[in-house]
Amino acid sequence: MNILNSPEELAHWKAAHPNCAFVPTMGNLHEGHLSLVEQARLSGLPVIASIFVNPLQFGAGEDFERYPRTFDLDCAKLRSAECSAVFAPSVTDMYPQAQTYFVEPPALANELCGKFRPGHFRGMLTVVLKLFILVQPRVAIFGKKDCQQLALIRGMVEQMNLPIKIEAGETLRAEDGLALSSRNGYLSDAERQEATRLYLTLKHIADALALGRRDFEELEVQALDALYQYGWKVDYVSIRRQNLDMPAQEDSRFVVLGAAWLGKTRLIDNVELG
Ligand code: PAF
Repeated sequence: MNILNSPEELAHWKAAHPNCAFVPTMGNLHEGHLSLVEQARLSGLPVIASIFVNPLQFGAGEDFERYPRTFDLDCAKLRSAECSAVFAPSVTDMYPQAQTYFVEPPALANELCGKFRPGHFRGMLTVVLKLFILVQPRVAIFGKKDCQQLALIRGMVEQMNLPIKIEAGETLRAEDGLALSSRNGYLSDAERQEATRLYLTLKHIADALALGRRDFEELEVQALDALYQYGWKVDYVSIRRQNLDMPAQEDSRFVVLGAAWLGKTRLIDNVELG
């Protein structure tokens, strides 16, 4: 596996691998990321992953500084997943000057997670566009756990006419249902035991919808109450159409999304129905 530490090294690799499949990450890789690499390998193209903790998508007081950086371990995992290359630029490589041009996202970026993380999706889309320009992949894979991120990336690719096929990777879960996430590492043992409740609560709503309930607000409020009771601080629980529009009574396909804090850790998850 080639380790590419700068855009110049990437350009050199690209000259030999003009077509590739791309898995962008912020590192601290787990089985979920590796399943995206596996999915990327199905394209038959050489797979390149990126590891870059993007300061632009973290707000003041968020976990940019403490975000786990485990580069050597990540490389070992990518190597065993038969990834062809890893692009790991520095912050100065990605932002040689202070970034003053941004991707301006649509209103969706101010809803759900965007309401609680102002500027997050603008910073995320800006770095994803920059990575796309540098890597020029044919295919790029993003996990469904970051459902709003995936929707915004799909929209950007479509409206900016980027010649990249976006694929969604399924969320991988621990045995108790907790979605795999780099941020799970922040949880204490007691919090880790409790953490699965977010998934179970969202799943409970999805089951109620499957049985025909359409009192969306009531279901959301019940979920908030259930989580509050166990010490969660909930940012939101929301029932949406799968394109993240507001749902209607006649709909049968939904996604139930939630974001909530357990102590100092913010977890997100979603469950699709239909
Ligand atoms: O999902 C992530 O890890 C990040 O948001 C991404 C897509 C790599 C952009 O920094």
